Amino acid sequence: MCGIVGYVGKEDSAPILIDGLRRLEYRGYDSAGLAVHDGERIQVVRAVGKLRELEKAVGAAPLPGSLGIGHTRWATHGRPSEINAHPHVAGKVAVIHNGIIENHMPLRERLEKGGSEIVSDTDTEIVAHLIDEQLRKGGDLLASVRGALAQVEGAYAIAVTSQDEPDRLVVAKSASPLVLGLGEGENFCGSDIPALLPYTKRVIVLEDGQLAVLTRETVEISTLEGAPVEAEVRTIDWSPMMAEKAGYKHFMLKEIFEQPRAIEDTLRGRLDREHGDITGAELGLADEHVPGIERVYLVACGTSHHAAMAGRYYFESLTGLPTSVELASELRARDPVIGPGDLVIAISQSGETLDTLMAAKLAKEKGARVLAIANVMGSAIPRMADGELYTRAGPEIGVASTKCFTAQLAALLMLAVYLGRRRGRLSPERTAELVEAMARLSHQMRDVLQGTRQLVMNLARRHVDARDVLFLGRGLNFPIALEGALKLKEISYVHAEGYASGEMKHGPIALIDSAVPVVVLVPQDECRDKSMGNLQEAKARGGRIIAIATESDDEVHQLSDDVVEIPAAGSELTPFLTVLPLQLYAYYVADFKGTDVDQPRNLAKTVTVE
Ligand code: M6R
Repeated sequence: MCGIVGYVGKEDSAPILIDGLRRLEYRGYDSAGLAVHDGERIQVVRAVGKLRELEKAVGAAPLPGSLGIGHTRWATHGRPSEINAHPHVAGKVAVIHNGIIENHMPLRERLEKGGSEIVSDTDTEIVAHLIDEQLRKGGDLLASVRGALAQVEGAYAIAVTSQDEPDRLVVAKSASPLVLGLGEGENFCGSDIPALLPYTKRVIVLEDGQLAVLTRETVEISTLEGAPVEAEVRTIDWSPMMAEKAGYKHFMLKEIFEQPRAIEDTLRGRLDREHGDITGAELGLADEHVPGIERVYLVACGTSHHAAMAGRYYFESLTGLPTSVELASELRARDPVIGPGDLVIAISQSGETLDTLMAAKLAKEKGARVLAIANVMGSAIPRMADGELYTRAGPEIGVASTKCFTAQLAALLMLAVYLGRRRGRLSPERTAELVEAMARLSHQMRDVLQGTRQLVMNLARRHVDARDVLFLGRGLNFPIALEGALKLKEISYVHAEGYASGEMKHGPIALIDSAVPVVVLVPQDECRDKSMGNLQEAKARGGRIIAIATESDDEVHQLSDDVVEIPAAGSELTPFLTVLPLQLYAYYVADFKGTDVDQPRNLAKTVTVE
């Protein structure tokens, strides 16, 4: 997730672009850059780090010109560095991009064979070279962008400027957001409305498969095939603060609703639906490593540890490898038996958690292969690891992790399916079935978020004064029960406990009375019938049962006070769906209580102390 802006008008473009990028910095902040056309040539300035570094660089080398593009980056391909920062230049064009080009590797090979000098590790530079290639064949900028995009698979929002066309910006979109802003004698584009709001309230939301040519006076939209488009102009009345959160009250709520997109991006280019397999690309593990793996350790803290617990179910059942889950802080408190033959997977949203970093270092010293699953490219844990698998959730601002959790689950499931297939544990048919189920997942998550929001909000309102809440789950949904309890504790300060459903009768059942809401996860899977027994035990003690169940499960409806339904899904996929109402529940309880949802007391987003 990156932020892009573009301007063509009468003013100096650089300050407007930097201001727009500042409003998009929540989308990424590891490097930034501008390309400005001064009427004769394009000048580019890029800098690593937060936007102030770019501001310093532009202060030292001003960029005159009233047409330009700007980018703030959240690395997906290639580490944060000046050479990987956008804009990328090839020949006479400069390009900025938000998204992921899935077929960048074969395109890179073809371009390099044809003599293109590609200097960065990014997928974006490939697009710049494709446009340059088309321009050399004699087309104008619009035709060249069309010709280039016809070769590209994946997600993109791009803005392009060409040295030979000082008065036109060409932009295009597929699966990544792009908004056009309409001014008087000036026009704008941006990844999101906040970038445009100080300058205009009149916007056009570009649709997938559309391009636009922006000049000072005109905005012309067409399809990739060249058909003209009449777009609707909307007037926005958001305040700048609302706009930054895309209209949501808190970043956490926005991030909860971003999960379908985060899953799509994390799976993008890694699911090979044609062959019913996981591609080895960017998994941090290659086919040659597979035979050497005898055992798996999953190491993490907090929410990432809950993802690791779900990961153990995936690894054990899909790969047949003995798998342990470790709290990173505890691993170093022991003398763990780790060595060559062990694959240690360190899972961390930030990639900087000190406990996880130190545990991963210890494992490496003992001779294990370390694979990092992280969301922040170039962070400490992937830097020290032997391999890296990036979730592509985009920056997570809310301290309570939501979208990074489900992205971690997706990463772990992909890895387990990849290994399971190569170890012969999974048949081609079962592998293809799992790949298809993963491809459907984001749609199901969207349905759950939209379909359950109001009901969960009502439940939260009703139970806002509960002093204790229990969450019960079994099998793959046990870690989800723990995660539901952690979310509630973190942001609402309500005492909550997650338990394995079957463990309740060994003690925690004493806590249950009519003042205690009991959230029971009973989706249709191999644990459902046993979990129903536990639900009945809680009901018999007077607990107020909120069930998270598969739709049309009549028995659950009869026995529960309230039921939140999820669609039918294979067992492996249920955690992605059951966790969503739990996140929403925690959010709304906290919001009704009026706590600081995005920055709860005593917590930090990244914990760099042991
Ligand atoms: O960045 P990490 O995933 O390594 O962070 C681990 C924990 O600190 C983190 O998950 C924490 O528990 C969150 N506040 C959970 O919402």
